[in-house]
Amino acid sequence: MRALVLDAEQRSANVKSVPFPSPSAHELLIRVAAVALNPIDSLYVFNPLAPTGRTIGSDFAGVVDALGDEIPSGLKRGDRVAGFLQGACSVNERPGAFAEFLVCPWDLVWKVGEEMRLQEAAAVSLCGLTAAQALFFRMGLEAPFHWPMEGPATAAAAAATEPEEKHCIHEPPRNRTMSFFIYGASTSVGLYAAQLVRRSAESSGMSITLLGAVSEKHFRMLQTEPYGYDGLVDYHDVDWPTKVRGLTHAGTGVDYAYDCISEGWTVSKTASTLRPSGKMAIVRSREGGAWIEEENLLIEPSYGAVWEGLGEEVQYQGIHLPASPRARSFAVAFYEWLSSGRGRLEPNPLREMPGGLESIADDGFGLLGSGTMGDRGSSSERAYMKPLGAEKMVYTV
Ligand SMILES: NC(=O)c1ccc[n+]([C@@H]2O[C@H](COP(=O)([O-])OP(=O)(O)OC[C@H]3O[C@@H](n4cnc5c(N)ncnc54)[C@H](OP(=O)(O)O)[C@@H]3O)[C@@H](O)[C@H]2O)c1
Repeated sequence: MRALVLDAEQRSANVKSVPFPSPSAHELLIRVAAVALNPIDSLYVFNPLAPTGRTIGSDFAGVVDALGDEIPSGLKRGDRVAGFLQGACSVNERPGAFAEFLVCPWDLVWKVGEEMRLQEAAAVSLCGLTAAQALFFRMGLEAPFHWPMEGPATAAAAAATEPEEKHCIHEPPRNRTMSFFIYGASTSVGLYAAQLVRRSAESSGMSITLLGAVSEKHFRMLQTEPYGYDGLVDYHDVDWPTKVRGLTHAGTGVDYAYDCISEGWTVSKTASTLRPSGKMAIVRSREGGAWIEEENLLIEPSYGAVWEGLGEEVQYQGIHLPASPRARSFAVAFYEWLSSGRGRLEPNPLREMPGGLESIADDGFGLLGSGTMGDRGSSSERAYMKPLGAEKMVYTV
């Protein structure tokens, strides 16, 4: 079968013939129908971690082609599913998703409803889970689904924990009125974060004022369903943090902030919108060096990698994240919620790219650049190569 394979020496990827995968007892064999692109896919082709020969790519949607011997009932051949794999974004040997077929643990996919195209579904899994982890798993906002808040954080802790021992990772919020600010509201992660804030408010009965920073050209889209922002500022304004604080009760600052860019000064500026003891999450690690720390940064922002949801050990950018059964349980619960139909998430607006697997490295990665938002851009006359804005690139396989 064909797959998009890393050439670490050339810092590129090429379509090659690779061995056909075989599912283990708890895995599904999936015929891939569509893949979506994430900045990390191109980041680790231009800055390789893995050796030449690894299949790259994260987000996929497709059709179940075969099932391992120990898959519980509820899934069958022909089911339409979506999920993500880690590909070449860590020091491990697991192949990624940009291939004609892949294998994936049965409980780390979600069933795609009949009303959704597989191209749309491919855009949801990685960035939807990233946002859900930041909001519910790390900052403790009330989730619109149940997940095991108890249990050991790592595999090592799991081995050492007595069965009856309980770990509660955060107190449920007591305040019934709160404000949530999203920096980079037009990012794929930000588009899902806004919807998840809304779902949280609906299910918990809390009143949440949703504020965002985004280019003015996206205001209209974000003021309407399914996002419904209460207040927006343009991040091109030098004093946007002051404007955000001006939108909060008595100018005291927001309760929660999520920086979906985390580059340059955005972390410091986003932190300055918080009220004292507010909570904040970021999308890029301190170790990665993409953001600059102000001396008086009053809060340690919470960082996590979406890969933790796969329940495997992760190593990248000098970070070592031990396998986390708790993060995996959260991912399983989130995907169950999406599968159930109660988890209504509108997929990102799509940019459907021509050409299939063969075109990803030149066109898709050309648009995403080598890792930072500042690297992006394209001067091409072709409409599908215009700079991205509030869109997800998707390829049909
Ligand atoms: N921690 C994790 O596990 C994890 C998981 C997923 C993603 N990420 C990271 O999260 C970041 C966002 O990823 P994504 O896929 O959601 O991004 P994306 O969809 O590609 O973001 C594109 C949008 O970003 C906006 N933007 C660019 N520079 C900006 C700036 N300086 N300030 C505000 N908005 C800006 C652009 O707005 P305009 O239209 O105004 O140009 C555009 O609409 C990336 O760095 C990615 O690597 C981390």
